Amino acid sequence: MTIPCDILIFGGTGDLALHKLLPALYHLYRDDRLHPAVRIIALARSQLPRHDFQLLAERRCRAQIAKNDFNDDVWHRFVARLDYFSMDASQSADFGRLARYLGEPGGLMRIYYLATAPELFASITLHMQIAGLADHESRIVLEKPIGHSLESAKAINTAIGSVFQESQVFRIDHYLGKETVQNLMALRFANALFEPLWRSAHVDHVQISVCETLGVENRGGYYDRSGAMRDMVQNHLLQLLCLVAMEAPAQFDAESVRDEKVKVLKDLKPISGQDVQDKTVRGQYTAGKIGGQEVPAYYFEKNVDNDSDTETFVAIQANINNWRWAGVPFFLRTGKRLAKKTSQIVIQFKPVPHRLFEGCQTNQLVIQLQPDERISLQLMTKTPGKGMRLEPVELDLNLAQAFHRTRRWEAYERLLLDILEGDSTLFMRRDEVEAAWAWVDPIITGWQEYFQSPRPYHAGSTGPEQAHTLLEHQGRAWLS
Ligand code: BG6
Repeated sequence: MTIPCDILIFGGTGDLALHKLLPALYHLYRDDRLHPAVRIIALARSQLPRHDFQLLAERRCRAQIAKNDFNDDVWHRFVARLDYFSMDASQSADFGRLARYLGEPGGLMRIYYLATAPELFASITLHMQIAGLADHESRIVLEKPIGHSLESAKAINTAIGSVFQESQVFRIDHYLGKETVQNLMALRFANALFEPLWRSAHVDHVQISVCETLGVENRGGYYDRSGAMRDMVQNHLLQLLCLVAMEAPAQFDAESVRDEKVKVLKDLKPISGQDVQDKTVRGQYTAGKIGGQEVPAYYFEKNVDNDSDTETFVAIQANINNWRWAGVPFFLRTGKRLAKKTSQIVIQFKPVPHRLFEGCQTNQLVIQLQPDERISLQLMTKTPGKGMRLEPVELDLNLAQAFHRTRRWEAYERLLLDILEGDSTLFMRRDEVEAAWAWVDPIITGWQEYFQSPRPYHAGSTGPEQAHTLLEHQGRAWLS
């Protein structure tokens, strides 16, 4: 169990708070991982009596948490720890009111979770400092995206850094909290089997795909200013790439792991100018059918411009300029309103050097994050009976079954616990975020310079045709 603390959530009535953070906190509370004296205080502009906020939280959590996990008794105890404070985060005076409401910390740790637009990060932090809310005991949590470019990310990081030490700052990328993502490190660095093969001599290419069936839901305003590149590639996909490509850290601690990840980001071959045309594909969904249901085109979504040219799909061929990965393409792909929800990493090995058998295919290691958490290795085996007919067969490790798990830990549960315990290993350091933007910015600029409008793709399809040709003209193909 952790020490008693106050958790303050800016953006407390937003989707992230109600949909992800409160359910995660409820689970931690139910499992006795939160101190019983914890206080969770949602901060937002609406003038809501505490009781009304608690009802809203209950409604949203009940919808989010599986029926057999929701226990009324636990909820009543949990909700008694839940408070609401109405304030305008752009008003300095409101921080003074908040400080008076909270009283003296008296050694109590305060966690400030900024689940707001990144434009507010710097000013919230400065207001906190003026109101005396930012002491050495407190921690600050920033949701991605940190800024919308390298320049804005640096400005945010500098403002935060003028108030908090780097060790107090937790920059969240919830993909790092996913169980299979951490398993990737175990797979690579705790098994002697793969590491000798994990390099350009044996790997043909790597695919990292995060495909969603969802559209932009209620977030059209935010999404239309961001697009898939800033919303997904700059953070989630690059983090996955780092974990696949990094060298083994000397120790499993925050600084060693993050040092190795930064090296990968810095070694990414820049994509700019003409390369943007050849190595990237942008797409935007048009109307189509998902699961038998008609869905509208992106530009008809709520709060999206009718002539928007924001991308809802990106495919990129990335390369890493270092000894281990020279010449190995890393294909990244993410999109909304695609045929099925899958997040997976595929390590495609090279063929055997000399072919003895007909029909011999290559080995493929698939690390699936969603919908199931599994790791499978495709091996060539002989089919039973006469002759040497070969077929690929999968060695399949289903992590939920292997550990007889009945409930999947949500990424936010794990990450919130790490924040409470002060462990930054699974959080992005300042230089990591900036190195990611430094690679992404020239691609976005290239799209503007070459007027690369998004290619249309039907909702419910596998993305624009050009994303397939990106691989096909090299004799490769996306794994479904
Ligand atoms: C968020 C993005 O960070 O990740 C969303 O802002 C996206 O647009 C979501 O839908 C995907 O997360 P998950 O865990 O559902 O794959």
